[in-house]
Formats: sequence, structure tokens, C-alpha cells
Amino acid sequence: MKTVYVDNNATTRVAPQVLEAMLPYFSEYYGNPSSMHSFGGDVAAKIKAARSAVADLIGAAPEEIIFTSCGTESDSTAIRAAIDSNPHKRHIITTRVEHPAVKNLCEHLAKKGYRLTKVPVDCDGRLDTDFLLKNLTDDTAVVSVMWANNESGVIFPIEEISQTVKERNITFHTDAVQAAGKIPINVGRTGVDLLSLSGHKIHAPKGIGVLYVRKGTKFSPFLIGGHQESGRRGGTENVPAIIGLGKACELAADHIEEENTRVKALRDKLENELIKRVPHVTVNGDRGCRLPNTTSLGFEYIEGEAILLMMDALGICASSGSACTSGSLEPSHVLRAMGVPFTSVHGSIRFSLSIYNTEEEIDFIIENLPPIIARLRQLSPFWQDFIKKQPAAGP
Ligand SMILES: Cc1ncc(COP(=O)(O)O)c(C=O)c1O
Repeated sequence: MKTVYVDNNATTRVAPQVLEAMLPYFSEYYGNPSSMHSFGGDVAAKIKAARSAVADLIGAAPEEIIFTSCGTESDSTAIRAAIDSNPHKRHIITTRVEHPAVKNLCEHLAKKGYRLTKVPVDCDGRLDTDFLLKNLTDDTAVVSVMWANNESGVIFPIEEISQTVKERNITFHTDAVQAAGKIPINVGRTGVDLLSLSGHKIHAPKGIGVLYVRKGTKFSPFLIGGHQESGRRGGTENVPAIIGLGKACELAADHIEEENTRVKALRDKLENELIKRVPHVTVNGDRGCRLPNTTSLGFEYIEGEAILLMMDALGICASSGSACTSGSLEPSHVLRAMGVPFTSVHGSIRFSLSIYNTEEEIDFIIENLPPIIARLRQLSPFWQDFIKKQPAAGP
């Protein structure tokens, strides 16, 4: 059975070119980049090149890039560095729809005594920027707002809000884990001080992340140890993964056009055809301002988990929320923050495409999903009840 993988916001396939670039660093060039000998020094030179490739993808300078172990570490380091560098400030602003990497850390800090403000979103997942700006105070240590949401795909106006936050002399962090490689990012056009990336969302391996720290931003390391990463993150570098990430960033820059044309067209076809063929489907998120690869669809009156299982039996891999919220029967906090009604929140499925998806795969989903939905609705007491309440058709 062929796998149709449309769960790329959860993780992506390592690009063949990335794997090829990495392999020699396991067996041939295994030196420690901190060593004095040239066997290690040669590896340090390759890390330098990878750092430049990462910096180029987001319009940063190489010395503003710190390699970490994942997006979660980058988020944690950023927010903790911001509050540690402003010890007299006790207020944190974030949004109601952040990934658990930011959400749970902020909630943890709130339990430790920080005042936490969570900015709401509207029914299309758009950020209430006025609410955010009105809540900035002289006590605000950090504002952390994701660039694009992992579930709805909705893109937030980071360039605009970060500039205003910066004018108030408040540290601005953005989790750009889902935005990177899918939409252009240029930190130079923003007031962003700290930005997180994750390798495994852009066809690099798992276990590598990046924290961008704007030159001049007050910073304190999370992992205290050796002098690696200019003393900003201790620990011997994950060399193969760093080399792979550098390659992945080069490829992402080359593919951004394709993401926004071919991949977007496939996403739109999937969405439009499913809406046409299946009654009572809603799109979760602002269709005009979303990542080009993502659609979250609410199939009313049925359970997302049942849809996922039946799709899985056909080799189709999607998600009923972020990878972290699936596995729990609680509806996703993102969809709840958007006020998605009970009748569709439970039946919401996220499809997230990549450049490796083909039209044939999308057609396979379009053909096979509508009968699955029809079958599940026949079994659903909520659907049966809904149908019974519909006025009878006229003569
Ligand atoms: C928006 C967002 N932030 C952070 C993360 C965490 O990244 P990692 O898995 O590299 O820790 C994810 C992963 O799903 C994500 O989607």
C-alpha cells in the first residue's frame, strides 16, 4: 500500500540531498569542531557554511544564529533569556493559539508568579492585534507570538506588531517553526529580537533547531556548558544535523516559489473538491492569509479520530490537530480559541502538504475521503439527530 503523507506540519521527510550531505559527517568527517587539529577544524568550517545558509533563509547575519536541539528548545531558550535579561519585569504576553512549546512554558512561568496575558483570535484564527498592543506595559518582559499557526495555518502580522513592540523597548520573540520555508521571512524588515526554527519541519532531520538572536539583544544561555555557539549554547554540536539543516535551508529558499504556486494549488484543489463533494464541511482559518500548504477542515457531526483511522487504513496520513494534541480526546486549544462549534471541532482534520506531494495523491484523497465521511455519518447519532431536525423537502 502506498503512503499518502499529508501531515507535513507534524514532521517532514528528510530531503534526499540533505541526507546525502549529512552522511559523510557520521563516518568520514567525525572530528569535534572544537578540536585544535585540522581534522576537527575542517568540520568547524563546514558548520560555518551551514550557519550562513540558515542565516540567508531568514535575512540574518551568521553570528545571529544559534544551533539548538529542536524548536521547543529554541522557544524555551528565547523566552527564558528574555525574562532573565529583564529581571525587574514580571509580565509576559503570548497568544491563545501557541504551540505547547510556548503555551506550556508561559503557563509554567505564570504559576511561578509572572502575569500572563493571552491574546485572543477571532473565528477565522486572526490575531486581535489591538488587544495585544493595548496590553503592552512597562512591566512587559517579552511578547511571544507565533509567525504562523501549526493547526489552522493562519499567518500573523509579525512585521507590523514586532515593530510596535520594539518601539516600546520590549523583547519580541516569534515561533517561526511553521512559517520557515513556506513563506518568505526577512528579520531585517521586522522588530523581531528572537526567532525559533526547527529542522524537521523543513526536510532536515529531527533533533536540530535554530534560535536567531538579533545583534544587541540581551541574552543568557539556557544550556550552560562549553564555549560552543560563542558561549550561548553549551554542548558538542550535532554536526551531521547542522550540515543537513544548512542544505535544507538552501533547498527551502529554492522551493519557496513552488510552495506558493504548485503546493498551494494542490491544497486548494483538495479543499475545494472536498467542500464540493461533502456536505457540512467548514474551513478552520482565514482562507486569505494562510500557509500555502495547510488546510484544517471540520467534518461536522463525526469524530476526527475515526476519520484518521479509516484514512490510515488506506495509507493516508493526516492529523486531527497538532501532533502534540492528538493522542488526547480534548479538542485542540487552537480550535477552541477560534470558537469552532462543538459540532465540527471534534471532526476537524488537518491536511498539510509538501513539495513531495503529487496531484495523483491529492486525487486519491478526494476520491476516498467522501465515502468515509458518509459511512461515519451513518453511524453517528449526532448526524442522525441533525438530519431528523431538518425541514422536509417541499413537494
Ligand atoms: C509552531 C511550532 N512550534 C514549535 C514546535 C516544536 O518543534 P520541535 O518538534 O522541533 O520541538 C512545533 C512542532 O510541531 C510547532 O509546530
